[in-house]
Amino acid sequence: MKTANPLTRTLMIAFASAGLALSVPAVAQEVDADAAKLLFKQNECGKCHHPSQNKKGPSLKRTAKEYKGKANAEQEIMKHLTTPKKVKLDDGSEEDHKIVDSKDQKALVNLAKWILSH
Ligand code: HEC
Repeated sequence: MKTANPLTRTLMIAFASAGLALSVPAVAQEVDADAAKLLFKQNECGKCHHPSQNKKGPSLKRTAKEYKGKANAEQEIMKHLTTPKKVKLDDGSEEDHKIVDSKDQKALVNLAKWILSH
């Protein structure tokens, strides 16, 4: 078979790359760990939650593990971040769980994803 002429080759490459670009699925939003950590810090969540050690509240690792594989994990965490509810501290006392002081849906989703990534 004769080799394709330069123009045909260029066109073939162009179509091939276009096809590739179209077939790549929309990439899921990456977790912005720095933004999540900042929000976590600003809201003093770290007083009770440590990445790997249980403090007054469960460690982020424990929470992530608990939700692992659950389809609605992100929504559940979001709900927890945005609706006040009473929680039992490890010393048995009760307290209103702090809600994140942000109405930025994207930032909240990012925080939820970050928590679940532990
Ligand atoms: C006064 C201590 C305290 C502070 C401050 C606190 N939490 Fe908690 N948190 C807890 C306790 C205790 C639990 C476990 C309660 C339960 O499972 O009912 C908990 C549970 C959670 C869970 C797991 C929910 C679940 O359904 O398993 C998440 C996620 C969470 N907190 C995030 C946060 C974030 C984000 C902040 C900052 C806005 C925060 N917490 C601030 C004490 C605290």
